[in-house]
Amino acid sequence: MLLQNKVALITGSGRGIGRAIAKLFAAEGAAVFLTARTETELSATANEITAGGGRTMFQVADLSLAKDCRTIAKSAEEKFGRVDILVNNAGHYGPVLPVEEYPLEEFEKVLAVHLRAAFLLSQLVLPGMYARNSGVILNVSSISAKAAFGWGSAYAAAKAGMIGLTRVNAAEAARKGVRVNAICPGPVTETIMSRELGAELAKKLNVSKEDQLAGFLETILQGRGQSADEIASAALFLCSDHASAITGQAINVDGGAVYF
Ligand SMILES: NC(=O)c1ccc[n+]([C@@H]2O[C@H](COP(=O)([O-])OP(=O)(O)OC[C@H]3O[C@@H](n4cnc5c(N)ncnc54)[C@H](OP(=O)(O)O)[C@@H]3O)[C@@H](O)[C@H]2O)c1
Repeated sequence: MLLQNKVALITGSGRGIGRAIAKLFAAEGAAVFLTARTETELSATANEITAGGGRTMFQVADLSLAKDCRTIAKSAEEKFGRVDILVNNAGHYGPVLPVEEYPLEEFEKVLAVHLRAAFLLSQLVLPGMYARNSGVILNVSSISAKAAFGWGSAYAAAKAGMIGLTRVNAAEAARKGVRVNAICPGPVTETIMSRELGAELAKKLNVSKEDQLAGFLETILQGRGQSADEIASAALFLCSDHASAITGQAINVDGGAVYF
């Protein structure tokens, strides 16, 4: 097992990519601390993990609030003794609007949950990681940080910010036993976020949801989206000792969509 005796704090783990990461990490031996806003989803994910013989706990939190980030980092460390792996995955897309119409309040909310929460949670778990000279942080960014898609300014800015944070944090942490990387998924079409975004884009473009999706997937080398399980596999690699020489990177898991 790749994560035997590790403790992982995974945000946004009630559904979608976070849930897939939590299930895979638990199957690989990690104790996983789950968090999101929807208790029923957290509880369902926790039950699946427990049924599979894994160790897990969950706590409801709104990570767009700094106080909730502090509570979660403290709880995870108290409940499982430490945090070896932090996966900053929680987030929403926000409004699908051009820059000139984008409400400031929504812009700030998107930045808060993706970027500020990643910063705060990293800040809170790093002292323990440094004390143990060991740890991994994985920031779930997006190809939106690298491509030029319209109508998602806050999301793209937050995801690009996460890559900047990844590099700075990696530079500071590299000689203290801690690796920090980002992962940039392409379209994971099974998740709620992706489906809602597709529906909004289709409406704006005045095409069917099916045509909007097919048009986008056609631009990808593999001609398909990625599954949450494929993103989780890459996350597992990056958080395991198999990636012991990889830090400060933003790795695309996108079937061939962007190239830097
Ligand atoms: N799907 C894609 O195509 C794709 C592509 C690239 C990157 N990503 C990134 O992958 C990550 C997961 O997305 P997904 O596609 O799996 O979406 P999803 O199914 O909607 O899952 C998002 C998760 O984040 C949680 N979350 C959202 N806002 C939160 C908040 N304020 N506080 C705490 N938890 C919050 C959600 O739970 P609650 O709503 O219950 O809080 C949920 O568990 C996101 O960072 C997303 O940007 C997704």
